Amino acid sequence: MKLNHVISTKQFLDLSFLDKLFRLADEMQENDKNNNLPSPLKDKVLAAVFYEPSTRTRFSFESAMYKLGGGVITTESASHFSSAIKGESLSDSIKVISSYADVIVLRHPKKGSAKLASQVSDVPIINAGDGTGEHPTQALLDLYTIEKELGHLDNLRVSLVGDLLNGRTIHSLLILLSLYKNIKFFFVSPPQLALPREYKEHLKKKRIDFKEVTDINEVLDKTDVLYMTRVQKERFKSEYEYQKLKNAYVLDKKTLQKLNKNAIIMHPLPRVTEISIEVDSDKRAAYFRQAKNGLYIRMALLKMILEGE
Ligand code: CP
Repeated sequence: MKLNHVISTKQFLDLSFLDKLFRLADEMQENDKNNNLPSPLKDKVLAAVFYEPSTRTRFSFESAMYKLGGGVITTESASHFSSAIKGESLSDSIKVISSYADVIVLRHPKKGSAKLASQVSDVPIINAGDGTGEHPTQALLDLYTIEKELGHLDNLRVSLVGDLLNGRTIHSLLILLSLYKNIKFFFVSPPQLALPREYKEHLKKKRIDFKEVTDINEVLDKTDVLYMTRVQKERFKSEYEYQKLKNAYVLDKKTLQKLNKNAIIMHPLPRVTEISIEVDSDKRAAYFRQAKNGLYIRMALLKMILEGE
């Protein structure tokens, strides 16, 4: 499989490709630790075009590019600081930016925007989050984290908790995990934030076992991967509805006591109230290690895309 655009995790069907990416990420981490990184992307330019805020995705992609010898052009709030404010369409902006850069990392509030961009771009588009759609590179780093933390990707019980309706990281991750053997999902959400039907249909077609529950206590002792998510305020039409749901699930010391001793706790971050700070010191809390892994996965991904592997 030769990588070009990265739009959806549905495009990753080949487990040997994922393994190759993860081993390259291991190599990147080792070389970085030893201050021994080569500069394979010298003379290449990454454009980071973000119409929505970001800390991890934008900084880790930019850092990845610099560490591999490349350069970065960037706009952190493209809806205000690009010609979008003058009425330029996304297609026109991408067409033009693709003549200045070798790869474009795009975050946009509209589902489907990355696919649209890939249809007009002369260079690879990496989807860094398209509204409530997908966030495929987050899922790649999530999978890499699970493998690093637990040592395997088959035979897992995975609980996805919180805003499953709007959580694009959830959507991308469940598609990737469904490639592995004997995965069972627990979807934990209030009914208003339940997983969209299209993802449940995907799992049914693949005969993957899943259960939807509203009470997190039902799954804590049966979970290998507890993946918490933020209730996404920015996707709500009414502040009142958000206030009603924002604290639907809060992981604290008390709830932790019920969690499987060998589980890991993940979160794509940022967190708001759904994981108390007191949880950070628990050895099962993997979310800051997860964020760090994002740098090495994105380094590996950029190298594979830009070197045509
Ligand atoms: N996980 C994630 O996408 O974080 P940012 O919004 O900070 O990029």
